Amino acid sequence: MSIEANSIKQDFPIFKIKMNGKPLTYLDSTATSQRPNQVIDAVDAYYKEYNANIHRGIYQISERASEAYDESKRKVAKFINAESMQEIIYLRNATEALNLVALAWGDANISKGDHILISEMEHHSNIVPWIVLAKKKEAVLDYIKLDAKKAKLDMGSLKEQLEKRPKIVSVTHASNVLGTINNVREITKMAHGKGAVVLIDGAQSAPHMEVDVGDIDCDFYAFSGHKMLAPTGIGVLYGKEAILDKMEPLLTGGEMIKSVEHHAYSWNDLPWKFEAGTSNISGGIGLGAAVDYLSSLGMHNVREHEKQITRYALEKLSKINGVTVYGPDINDMDERGGVISFAIEGIHPHDVSQIFDSEGIAIRSGHHCAMPLVTKTLAQPALSRMSFYIYNNESDVDKAIEAINKAKKIFKIA
Ligand SMILES: Cc1ncc(COP(=O)(O)O)c(C=O)c1O
Repeated sequence: MSIEANSIKQDFPIFKIKMNGKPLTYLDSTATSQRPNQVIDAVDAYYKEYNANIHRGIYQISERASEAYDESKRKVAKFINAESMQEIIYLRNATEALNLVALAWGDANISKGDHILISEMEHHSNIVPWIVLAKKKEAVLDYIKLDAKKAKLDMGSLKEQLEKRPKIVSVTHASNVLGTINNVREITKMAHGKGAVVLIDGAQSAPHMEVDVGDIDCDFYAFSGHKMLAPTGIGVLYGKEAILDKMEPLLTGGEMIKSVEHHAYSWNDLPWKFEAGTSNISGGIGLGAAVDYLSSLGMHNVREHEKQITRYALEKLSKINGVTVYGPDINDMDERGGVISFAIEGIHPHDVSQIFDSEGIAIRSGHHCAMPLVTKTLAQPALSRMSFYIYNNESDVDKAIEAINKAKKIFKIA
């Protein structure tokens, strides 16, 4: 089955709106995706038909809410091929998931002088928690170098850094700036070979491709619901049961306990031990509906659809004078996702965004929460970025190309 973006668009009420009097062309799904009726309706039904707290009420609507929330975790476990829902922790977003590993696992396992390894391609959410941990523990934070020409991680640099025997290696599966898809299976194998624990930032991969955490063999995998059709405020940390079992919870209080006395308590079973307090129940139910929606399309088809649009866009962009695209080459589509960061010579990216906006097109301009990558490694003050998802098609790309030509005309650039 191939993806028909035009019919998919019918499921997304946002596409009925106009932006600056023009039909909305949404090319910023890397920041957050839009939501289909199926997700909105699932959240709506929870609030209207069975709103109750979970795992505590012995009455019908609470039992129904508990079942829907737990069922959502079973769906997510299947979606990424985890062994069971015990390995699926619901948090607010990928950022919170990455922080949980840095704070809970890091606090117990990182000591003075230990090495932590990340890459030059990371989002701030996979940099700052490690800076904080390294400072607190007097540990050393190292970076896998980026081969900026190829827009890929330098595997020689990874090899070199692994000789320092880092305790943890934390890398992104797919770059939100370059679109690069890293070979996380190979990275995990190499890191495990040197005794490191591996955390993968899946914020830009789980929404866009088949993810098999069993095959990758990573110890942790983090992603956000809002980038994959689900509501905001729900994210996932996958962790291997054996490692989660040994970890101490980060937050304490209700739900995460089995028993409490005046001066002692015992933890709840996985995954509840990491979910203190009332959960984002509607978000979890919405995420379950989002997973249903994506699974019915098939993640293989999602990926193929994005590849096709990206290839189309790269071809068109290559024909425009003065446009530089950052990311792997068009002949490298197997290692490139549907994210295209670009610069137009002589026009600031913020001006580019404003001109796109006037045409009803939403793109992102800035450092994309990856300042070390954009401003240092790529030496750009900012970049414009268009990104694609299931509801985009080639006519969206055509509109973006027209907007680039309009920007060049306004700024009198040949
Ligand atoms: C690669 C990557 N990692 C982490 C994040 C953080 O996601 P969130 O803001 O949903 O926590 C993002 C967000 O854009 C991202 O692109």
